[in-house]
Amino acid sequence: MGRDRTLWPALTRSCLRGVQLVVNAVASYSFRLACVKFSGVNQQEPSKKRIAVIPGDGIGQDVIPQALKVIRASGADVEISEFDWGADRYLRDGMTVPPDGFAMLGRDFDAILAGAFGDPRVKTNIHAKEILLGMRFKMDLYANVRPVRLLDAALCPLKGIEPKDVDFVVIRENTEGVYTDAGGVFKQGTPDEIAIQEDINTRKGVERIIRYAFEYCEQHTKLDGSPRGRVLMCDKSNAMTHAGGLWQRAFKEVSGEHPQIAAQHMYVDALCMQMVRDPRGFDVIVTNNMFGDIITDLAAGLQGGLGMAVSGNIHPGKTSMFEPVHGSAPPIAGKNVANPFGAILTAAMMLAHLGFTQEAEKIEAVVLEAMRQKKTTQDIGGTLGTREAGEWVANFISRR
Ligand code: NAI
Ligand code: MG
Repeated sequence: MGRDRTLWPALTRSCLRGVQLVVNAVASYSFRLACVKFSGVNQQEPSKKRIAVIPGDGIGQDVIPQALKVIRASGADVEISEFDWGADRYLRDGMTVPPDGFAMLGRDFDAILAGAFGDPRVKTNIHAKEILLGMRFKMDLYANVRPVRLLDAALCPLKGIEPKDVDFVVIRENTEGVYTDAGGVFKQGTPDEIAIQEDINTRKGVERIIRYAFEYCEQHTKLDGSPRGRVLMCDKSNAMTHAGGLWQRAFKEVSGEHPQIAAQHMYVDALCMQMVRDPRGFDVIVTNNMFGDIITDLAAGLQGGLGMAVSGNIHPGKTSMFEPVHGSAPPIAGKNVANPFGAILTAAMMLAHLGFTQEAEKIEAVVLEAMRQKKTTQDIGGTLGTREAGEWVANFISRR
């Protein structure tokens, strides 16, 4: 077949991938209907929970140990097992994920805490794709929940914006869209080269993420305790009419089941403008995989940068995975300068998901205190290193 991947086998592969996505979506749908509880909120008293930790590459290895210190200091009843999946392991013996890796994570653990994946020595980025996207796709972690909160007015680049003004959440579809890597290249390296990147949107996949957003809106309050009340769908349905049309129809139908919640819509380009003009109007935003990826980096800019942004990759009722939004930041890796607060606050989000509400609240309160006292890394105005900032938070929690 030569050097080029031809288009038609690629399209066959993408069809098969599409079928697989539909099967996953149907399976999780049936599961959801059987569940009484939906969101990450677990109000039962937690018993000991088992957490798989995968620090990964670059600054993942700097910030995750700080998050672990803080989890231990919080007193949450957890058992931690670490895995060395990442670039070093891949370069050593070629392993990205062991054959039963995802089944093992789902079977033996209540949650996963991951760092970041990406290393300049692995040009193809194959290990990151297999580990990170593998967890998201193969474990069907369809809701990427990214709360965007400003903890200190000084961190926001916008004039006159207070912490109360930036308190919204982006619910990003996490298993479909253009990130399934379906498609192919035809006549590569010739002037006639054709590259196709498919945007996969299934009715079940789109509907379940929109439904998740409405139920999240119903079940979560804002930081000040006031109820959430608006779900905004962000798309580009004026130009991407086929996929956009499906999202529009599903949104209309699901919003009709939640008349008490205001349903809103914005095109993604207009939303980007609004996010930096005035983020105060946002509450719950639901969007597809790629737009969610992009707008949450933009949103991280409102919070003090990528070092502050948190996320959960959630499938209600199944083992879910939590990771800071940032990547492996190779230029600053191993230098004790990366901000550990995104990872620490992500750990708090994971603990809340597991039912350790008080421990999570304690961690959040102490991070806030660290910011007040400027016990932070340089990117957010302090003078501490990664380890010292993590230790300050852990020590403060231990003393409370
Ligand atoms: P990045 O998030 O690693 O870095 C972007 C910028 O933010 C850099 O200037 C970096 O120094 C800064 N930054 C990020 N986290 C920080 C922290 N905790 N404290 C202080 N500064 C921080 O994104 P980039 O540079 O696009 O990607 C680097 C590698 O990470 C690539 O291999 C990429 O594929 C991978 N990546 C992995 C992700 C994941 O594992 N979820 C997400 C994004 C990128
Ligand atoms: Mg991203």
